[in-house]
Amino acid sequence: MRTTCGLLLAGALLITGCAAEEPAGPPLDMRHTTRDLMAGMIDASADALWDAVGTIWDENGENHWEPETEEEWLAVTGAAMTLIESGNLLMLGNRPRDDDQWMVFSQEMIDAAAVALEAARAQDPEAIFDSGEVVYNACNNCHNIYWVGDEQRGRTIP
Ligand code: HEC
Repeated sequence: MRTTCGLLLAGALLITGCAAEEPAGPPLDMRHTTRDLMAGMIDASADALWDAVGTIWDENGENHWEPETEEEWLAVTGAAMTLIESGNLLMLGNRPRDDDQWMVFSQEMIDAAAVALEAARAQDPEAIFDSGEVVYNACNNCHNIYWVGDEQRGRTIP
């Protein structure tokens, strides 16, 4: 497709011919890069999930938190949904780095977030906590292969 377009663009008269060959599809707005999605949506949603349930021990003893209100559960549910949909977004347009392993990792993120979604729908704090590790591994597996040549790598990932 790219080659055809290049050739057609070389002849000014045929530019419309090239446009006509664009694959039909919904008019997607692809303004966000993979990095944009990571920084603006995916990381925030993962944080919402990872922070939803926890326990710390300090001088006052054990301090445990988990979602309590419907609103708090809805927020966790939304975070899991956003991660699932983000996996779809990573597979769209020119975002995939290849048609193979990238797709597998994106799907793994979807599957991991689906575990979190199920836990959120069941309002099960322990399952939410456990799903955090599954999600973390899905992020990490892709980063190990594709997040390269970046000195800051990992700095914003807990
Ligand atoms: C399918 C691959 C893939 C998956 C899955 C993935 N990432 Fe990424 N991520 C990348 C790539 C690639 C980059 C580096 C940006 C680039 O090269 O465009 C990145 C960069 C980032 C960044 C840095 C953004 C910046 O501002 O520089 C954060 C934060 C991040 N990812 C968080 C996550 C989290 C959290 C998850 C899991 C919930 C996740 N990513 C899952 C591929 C992935």
